[in-house]
Amino acid sequence: MTLPRHVGIIMDGNGRWAQSRGKPRLEGHRVGADSVRDITRASREIGIEALTLYAFSSQNWLRPIDEVTGLMQLLREFLIDERSEILDNQIRLEAIGDIEKLPPFVTEPLHELRAASANNTKMVLTLALSYGGRESIARAVRELGRDVAAGKLAAETIDVDTFDRYLPTHGLPPVDLLIRTSGEQRISNFLLWEIAYAELMFIDVQWPEFRREHLRTCLDQYAARERRFGLTSAQLTSDVES
Ligand code: FPP
Repeated sequence: MTLPRHVGIIMDGNGRWAQSRGKPRLEGHRVGADSVRDITRASREIGIEALTLYAFSSQNWLRPIDEVTGLMQLLREFLIDERSEILDNQIRLEAIGDIEKLPPFVTEPLHELRAASANNTKMVLTLALSYGGRESIARAVRELGRDVAAGKLAAETIDVDTFDRYLPTHGLPPVDLLIRTSGEQRISNFLLWEIAYAELMFIDVQWPEFRREHLRTCLDQYAARERRFGLTSAQLTSDVES
């Protein structure tokens, strides 16, 4: 079966899942954190090389303060509770986004686990935190502009590969599969540049209920799709035959 090398997930529907059960929204995030644990474990077992999770967007700061604080606490708990699981399973933890905006009680265990797991090679788990795809591109443009101004880079040599080197996802395999839970069919400022050729999957399951069996269904569907990368179906077949 063809496996995606890199899976991105927009973990949507926590609030609706909780509210439809008469529970506070934060309960949805809490059960959603259990889904994060299960999907991380399953991805590692299946052999996915990179898993990138949209855990907190640049725009999520505008949510009610109690929800933002609750989400930050769940992140801290995840980083502390999963530390040994991540290290024992040779997973490298990464983070993308405006990390400096996160409170120290999150950045401290985050930096510690990033450093402790830096040499792990079995899977990269990237948490997108205070992340926005447009913000990420704007940051890359700022850094690239600085290098042009400093004479380190000639503007006329900039191509797709040059630009890619300025993105925080540089070095990860291309995103092959993007999953969004909850039935909404939007990208919501997630990996905009990186999903150029990703297969998109919108699943009608809320994130707190999304577990490894749903991931397996997505992987089966992925394996059945034909990825053409701008070529024709016939060209792909002749490539395989030649
Ligand atoms: C979107 O659902 C989800 C989020 C904004 C947060 C995702 C966070 C977690 C799954 C838990 C903590 C993360 C980790 C990595 C341990 P929503 O609240 O927008 O749902 P709604 O659209 O139904 O309101």
